[in-house]
Amino acid sequence: MTPSPIVDVAESAEDLAERAAIWLTTRAALARSRWSLNLSGGSTPKRVYELLGGAELRRRIDWRKAHLFWGDERFVPHSHPDSNYKMASDAMIAHVPIPAPQVHAIRTDVDSPEKAAALYAATLEDFYGSVSLDPERPLFDVTLLGLGEDGHTASLFPGSCALDERRAWVVPVVGVKPQPRITLTYPALESSRDILFLVAGAEKREILARVLGGDRSLPAARIATRGAIRIFADKAAVSAG
Ligand code: 6PG
Repeated sequence: MTPSPIVDVAESAEDLAERAAIWLTTRAALARSRWSLNLSGGSTPKRVYELLGGAELRRRIDWRKAHLFWGDERFVPHSHPDSNYKMASDAMIAHVPIPAPQVHAIRTDVDSPEKAAALYAATLEDFYGSVSLDPERPLFDVTLLGLGEDGHTASLFPGSCALDERRAWVVPVVGVKPQPRITLTYPALESSRDILFLVAGAEKREILARVLGGDRSLPAARIATRGAIRIFADKAAVSAG
């Protein structure tokens, strides 16, 4: 990872979620105009979303400034239990006063994952106001990412050709997992002021150590941004020695 990540170690998964949610709330409060948050799927962020959408924190965020995006999505209807949109919607979006046009979901009600990727790229370009990324002007204020036990992040899986994509911002990922997916590519994910990895549980310990050790065969280890990388982990996910 470049730059070297700042690692925040929490006592427990619940503590991790609270720390990440408070960090995000504070960050959102610093935004002068719009604030773009790129959401992740996975179980670890779900609790963070519940806290952001909960009675205490949701009042501290000016949702009129927030724009929500997704780093990846499964090519399933938004009502499907595997939908990353549904997860974030149930946990957070349904409970906060964000204007609907500021929720930029990856559309899956189209013919193909290719079409979904093309539409999402257009959505991002429209929001950003350009088709080329300016290193001085990140696309996202914050990108949330998870870490899979195989080292994947977003839907960038080991060995997938999506890892070599440097031009397109969004690509379909077909034939890697049972469900096709749509993922943002490195250039788009990396165009973030802050990238936050949320990593919890002893089953992540070995892979997190390899990522931190710089094993470039792991997609998560290859994230390189001009912004900052922060890893919110719980004690169980961090090696003892
Ligand atoms: C997804 C994700 C994925 C996830 C990791 C970690 O849609 O599955 O975006 O990259 O973040 O698989 O998931 P957990 O937090 O559930 O371990």
